[in-house]
Amino acid sequence: MLLVKGKVKSVYKPGNEPKSVFIEYHDKITAGNGEKEDYPVGKGSLCCQISSILFDKLEEFGIKTHYIRQIGPNKMLCKELDILPLEVIVRNRAAGSIVKTTTIQEGQPIIPAIVEFFLKDDSKQDPLLTRDRVKLMGIDPMPLVEQASNINEYLLNIFNLIGFDLIDFKIEFGVDAHGELYLADEISPDSMRLWDKNTQSKYDKDLFRNDEGDIVPAYRTILSKLQSTFI
Ligand code: C5P
Repeated sequence: MLLVKGKVKSVYKPGNEPKSVFIEYHDKITAGNGEKEDYPVGKGSLCCQISSILFDKLEEFGIKTHYIRQIGPNKMLCKELDILPLEVIVRNRAAGSIVKTTTIQEGQPIIPAIVEFFLKDDSKQDPLLTRDRVKLMGIDPMPLVEQASNINEYLLNIFNLIGFDLIDFKIEFGVDAHGELYLADEISPDSMRLWDKNTQSKYDKDLFRNDEGDIVPAYRTILSKLQSTFI
């Protein structure tokens, strides 16, 4: 049964697995709040496989994630959670919206990394939230900041080992029936910026956003480097 049809993924409720969902990653990419879209062949499976490896590694480091196992090239079984209506963004260097909306220059290091909250609501254009506003929404931001910072440390190391600078990334969290916090959604080059350590070339969705190249070979490079280093 289809539960949620997102822009590039669908969430289904399997008949035989209580408290679980399966997430299907589509061969689709969008940008600009869905204004721009394309259907790159193989992209769903690349994002699913990259996310699976990263969720697995984060679990090894003690981060609770919704990931249970991969059940097909572009499908993963996950815990069923209530997803918080927040996009949590961690920035190690300036790029994207922080450059567009401040005086900060692209590429400027952000040390220590910052954790920002955006409302997850396309109809309101996902506005930047203050931590006070997050509290008023009934969500304590501090455990999210702490988890996001820990996840950042692990991801920085993982990508450093395969030769990439992790510029920034977006994550989402969900809670189970006991109020336990889990990392949810996906972690892939669709939701992060990755620059080659030597050349500073982009290996992420900015290639599509800015018409700067084909994402499929870039995502394939990330997957094969993760596979050869961590599997
Ligand atoms: O848009 P902005 O530059 O703030 O994005 C920061 C990071 O969060 C980027 O890696 C971007 O790909 C990711 N992001 C996302 N989904 C959004 C907004 C941002 O994955 N809706």
